[in-house]
This record gives sequence, C-alpha cells and structure tokens, in this order.
Amino acid sequence: MYDIITFGSATSDIFLRLKKESYQILRKKKKLLCFPLGAKIFIDDLKIASGGGATNTAATFAKQGLRTAVCTKVGQDKRGEALIEELKKLNVETQFIKKDKKYSTAHSIILSSPPEDRTVLIYKGACHFMESSDIAWRKLKKVKWFYLAPLTGKSAQLFGPLVEFAKKNNIKIAANPGNSQLNLNRKILKPILSQIDILILNIEEASLLAKAEEEIKIIKKLSSLTKGIIVITKQKKGSIVFDGKYIYKAGIAAPHILPLEKTGAGDAYAAGFLTGFFKKNDIKYAIQLATANATSCILEIGAKKGLLAEGQWEQQLGPRVRVQIKRCK
Ligand SMILES: Nc1ncnc2c1ncn2[C@@H]1O[C@H](COP(=O)(O)OP(=O)(O)OP(=O)(O)O)[C@@H](O)[C@H]1O
Ligand SMILES: [Mg+2]
Repeated sequence: MYDIITFGSATSDIFLRLKKESYQILRKKKKLLCFPLGAKIFIDDLKIASGGGATNTAATFAKQGLRTAVCTKVGQDKRGEALIEELKKLNVETQFIKKDKKYSTAHSIILSSPPEDRTVLIYKGACHFMESSDIAWRKLKKVKWFYLAPLTGKSAQLFGPLVEFAKKNNIKIAANPGNSQLNLNRKILKPILSQIDILILNIEEASLLAKAEEEIKIIKKLSSLTKGIIVITKQKKGSIVFDGKYIYKAGIAAPHILPLEKTGAGDAYAAGFLTGFFKKNDIKYAIQLATANATSCILEIGAKKGLLAEGQWEQQLGPRVRVQIKRCK
C-alpha cells in the first residue's frame, strides 16, 4: 500500500547561469530575454540535475517519510537510468516508470538570469507521450492519494482516465494541472475538475481557468468548478487557500533572502502542502510546510536539492510563515 503515487513528467535539467553582461532584458508588453544574434554567449555556471513534476514531488513525499511511487516514462538511455537510480536512493518506488523505446528522456535547459525569472527550453521526451497502456492500472488500486503533476502534450489525455480510476477506487486526488490540461475542452475539463480533492494552481493558471483577474472572483469561480480545496500560489507574494468556508493567506518564509534558482518552487510548494495535509489534516500547517519547502528549494540549484526532510521543518522556516485566516462571505 502506497501513501502517494505521482504522475507527470521526468526530465533531466541543465541549469545555465548567464553572465550579466551577456544578455539584456527588454521591457515590451512582456519582458524579453535578448542576446545578439550570432554571438558567443558565456555562462557563469552550469549544473545538471533531474526534474519534472512527478519526480520532484515524489522526492518531497519520500523525504517526508511517505510511502511514495512515481508513474512516468523515461527513455532507454543513461539519463533515464540515472533518474531511476536517484529516485531509488530517495526511497521512491520506481516499478511504474516505463522505459520507452521510441522517445528519449525529456530534457529541459534552464536559462537562469537572477534576479529576473528563468527561461526554460523544453525538449519533449518520453514523459510527454504517456498513454493508458503505459500504466499498470491493476497495481494502482491500493493507494491513498494520486498526485497529478502537469501532464503535458499527449499525456494530458490521461487526466480524465486517472481521475475516473481514482474515484472508482476511493483514492483521493491532488492535481496541479498545467496548460495542456487547462486548455482541454471545457466540456471534458469540468467533470474532471469536479472530482478533485485538492486543486493547486499558480495565479496565472488560476486566472486562465477562472477567466477572471481579481483574486476573490477567481476563488469564487474555481469553487464553482470543484468542491475540493483550492490552492493558489503567487510567487514571492506567497499563496492563498480556500477550503469552501475559510480563506487562508500566507506570505513567503524569508522575504529578505533572494532566491538562487526558482525552478521547482511550484512542485515543492504543492508536495509540501499535500504532505502537511496528509499528516495533520490541518490547512495552516500544510501552508507552512509548503512555503518552507518551496523556500528551501529555491535556495539551491536543481528542483530536488533543497527539499526538506521529515522533521527539518521545526528547525527551519515553517514556523515563521504567518497564515491569516478569514471566513469567506
Ligand atoms: N521569489 C520567491 N521568493 C520567495 N518565495 C518564492 C518565490 N517564488 C516562489 N516562491 C514560493 O514558492 C511558491 C510557489 O511559487 P510559484 O507561485 O512561482 O509557483 P509556480 O508558478 O507553480 O512555480 P513553477 O514555475 O515551479 O511551476 C510560492 O507560493 C512561494 O511560497
Ligand atoms: Mg507550477
């Protein structure tokens, strides 16, 4: 019996920290990262780490002592092998990771330009082409929670079947749908969302789904789509949670500290939240653990390196996170 199985992507990430003088940020409608065409661009630092929503969140769950498995797809290559070995060392069950013959392990190249946001180049790979036949459905019945990380590309079509399977088998569902899923036809999306127990989105995704800009309107619209807990993250502005009755607002754990690399913050927050909720059924504690885990994540390069282990929370950033609770009218 597993506590949690995660579904979603598995990638190898290359982090390139750009030299300040080698690029410019242009402020048009959106901010643009610019290089001179044809130039040779020097970088300050290069690091390689594993990534992907399914493996990043599994790393938090396992480090926090939950019995965790990952369901994803890698290629038949060294990068896929290394990812599986890393997960095994973290005590994550890897038997549901399929090795694809056709596609290689997905790759991300992260152009880091602090203090500005990072830019991610994605080479689609095995995890973006997951199909129903890649999933060992019969072995997945005895699980307490499914965690659905963003399912990108072809894999987005598994969103509905995974939710349906979970409901049939009394498995709870936490989901952090990405753009591929949020852009599914509304007629397909609505019945899926209505079954989710914890819906986690960043503010841009929440606004896209709710077709609204104002926070309170977003929450009201989302609560008409799902009866579950709604979690919205807002980068350095913290997060907001709605449980159907109360709105919880929290800032960040260490406002004075500049993040080193933001990749994985969303995964660290989401997995921290579900861990806290799983262990104590207490939203305030879940927010504190989530925020502490996200902060710890962005103080390191790589989406897994800074994740908090069980018990680290007490000595770390969690208790510093103030959570305001208000009844929603
Ligand atoms: N610059 C920052 N400083 C401090 N904390 C941050 C910062 N950015 C993110 N966080 C923390 O991480 C949480 C999740 O971040 P964010 O809202 O950026 O998620 P996301 O957009 O899903 O991230 P990702 O790009 O990893 O998917 C925030 O609620 C906050 O607690
Ligand atoms: Mg995210």
